[in-house]
Amino acid sequence: MKIYKIRYGTPEKVTPFTFSPEPACDIETVCPERAERISFKVTDAGCVLSVNVSEDTSYYGFGLQQKGFEQSGKRMQIKTNADTRTNNGNCHAPVPFFVTDKGFGIYVDTARYVTFTSSKEGKVKKDNTLVKEVALCEEELYESKKTSGEKLLLIEIPVAKGVDIYCITGERILDVVSGYNLLSGGGAMPPLWGLGGFYRCCGKFNEEQVLSIAKRMREYEIPCDILGLEPGWQTKSYSCSFVWDEKGRFPNHKRMAQSLIKDNFHLNLWEHCYTHPTSPVFDSLMPYSGDILVWEGLVPDFTMKEARDAFSVQQKALIDEGISGFKLDECDGSDYTGGWFFPDCTEFPSGISGDQYHNLLGVLYCKTLLEALEGKPTFSQVRALSALSSSYPFVLYSDLYDQKEYLLATVNSGFSGILWSPEVRHAANKEELIRRMQAVVFSVMALTNAWYLDEMPWETHGCIGEIRQLLELRMSLVPYLHAAFYRYHKEGRPPVRALVSDYNDDFTRTCDDEYLFGDSLLVAPILYPENKREVKLPEGKWFDFYTGEEKRGSFIYESSNIPVFVKDGTLLPLAKPVQYITEETVFEITLKAYGNTENSSCILIDTTDDKSFTPYTVDKSTKGRIGERFIIV
Ligand code: GAL
Repeated sequence: MKIYKIRYGTPEKVTPFTFSPEPACDIETVCPERAERISFKVTDAGCVLSVNVSEDTSYYGFGLQQKGFEQSGKRMQIKTNADTRTNNGNCHAPVPFFVTDKGFGIYVDTARYVTFTSSKEGKVKKDNTLVKEVALCEEELYESKKTSGEKLLLIEIPVAKGVDIYCITGERILDVVSGYNLLSGGGAMPPLWGLGGFYRCCGKFNEEQVLSIAKRMREYEIPCDILGLEPGWQTKSYSCSFVWDEKGRFPNHKRMAQSLIKDNFHLNLWEHCYTHPTSPVFDSLMPYSGDILVWEGLVPDFTMKEARDAFSVQQKALIDEGISGFKLDECDGSDYTGGWFFPDCTEFPSGISGDQYHNLLGVLYCKTLLEALEGKPTFSQVRALSALSSSYPFVLYSDLYDQKEYLLATVNSGFSGILWSPEVRHAANKEELIRRMQAVVFSVMALTNAWYLDEMPWETHGCIGEIRQLLELRMSLVPYLHAAFYRYHKEGRPPVRALVSDYNDDFTRTCDDEYLFGDSLLVAPILYPENKREVKLPEGKWFDFYTGEEKRGSFIYESSNIPVFVKDGTLLPLAKPVQYITEETVFEITLKAYGNTENSSCILIDTTDDKSFTPYTVDKSTKGRIGERFIIV
């Protein structure tokens, strides 16, 4: 893998790189003349890069796309938006980076609403060879014009009169994407407990109701590590005061927090950044905020350290009270659900324009909270991210709820350095709840978001036993998933990714409904109301996760289980499930062998503080205690 930086014209002062962590890789700077296939010009509207690519190039990435997978022939606009309506690039976390199946990807370092058009057309040549005669039939009329084996990718950047791009080359898509993640500072590393069960309580709940959820969760023996509170914990929530509602729902919040922490729950609080006039930080934040309000609240200019410091005074107090995570909501904006977001003409004190800030708000909000946490481990949530976000331990979510779109987001997330949780909320019945929970178990964050539900959905649908079993399966996979995250952190290798990342063939290039979960598991979810689906496996031998039966090629899989297959030669570390993970938890690991594992090994990551990590390689002969965290049985 190699990364080349190329500068065209005069780049803008503010770009995603201005705020991102140090790259964790080497970057070679080359002059534009060396990139023969790329041309650049400045226009009235900004600037344009034209890239000559071979005609059969497939494109992936552009962020958390929920409406499309392989994006050739498409126009993708990188503009943050909460309500994806069509496959036009706008989404919760659009990223100006794509990867191709031809051994390269390009990251464009801009926060503008840049547009990538992978045209079906070539450029009109001087000798008019591409000008067609009058079409005589429909096929001719709509037939895409054949060029001489090459087509253009146009990258249009508004306003800017120059830009830095990073061309990343590598053998597989996985190598190129890993390069992008290292350029972003390396992948996020969650604490072990962050990978356990996560339940968000109903927004209108009071102290007793939250405590009752916690109590029932333990009584039902449903694994749960994190409890989240939704808007009702604050005196004001649209916009936010960041102050406990002591006179109303949470008179004894300190006692509540202590009792939940004692019962081994980590606590996560919902908020967004629009700051209500009654908030204690309102006055000090005013000079560092935009000139237009959202929900009558200030919009802090998080590009400024002063704003980050003034804003996070309340969060720091909450962290001192024992809060270990936050859900950073509403930082995406929507073009379709009313004008609640700040407009592009908003003026910010740092001078950043409204459109640039629109695309950067999510990631800068995460940065603000990470600074407030002062190194304390977290695995939190955010509803918008953008370029160079890989290192942030914040997972994306959405109000949209279509299962197929959730699966697309899972599959696509691994192309763009972002993490996604296909959270479960309500369900029509037990079958739907279980199908959705299966997808949650095989995702980076095992999240139930019951923010509008009075009961736990498994109480409503009478399936406590089935949900317990599924979350126990999740807990048995935590050491395996944690080790996958370690590789994300160190090598940039996404823990969840599309098959085409590792296997590039005709089938994987369009396979948008199966994915790799870590290096060894292939997951092919069945979506409610189906009870079966076609599964296709990439080259080589695979084994059914549940039965160990050998599988190859394509077949119909019918089951109430989620179809999962294990790569030949895998030594899978499976832990005896625990209800929650503490500093003292020691995982009892069984190494399950699939296929020929004579020379196989797997990695376990030891940590006592969730900050420093020691990898241990174990093989079939390993027995007994490993580090502080594991016993191999
Ligand atoms: C939405 C968010 C939901 C929930 C709700 C509370 O914006 O996506 O998950 O938190 O706000 O008002």
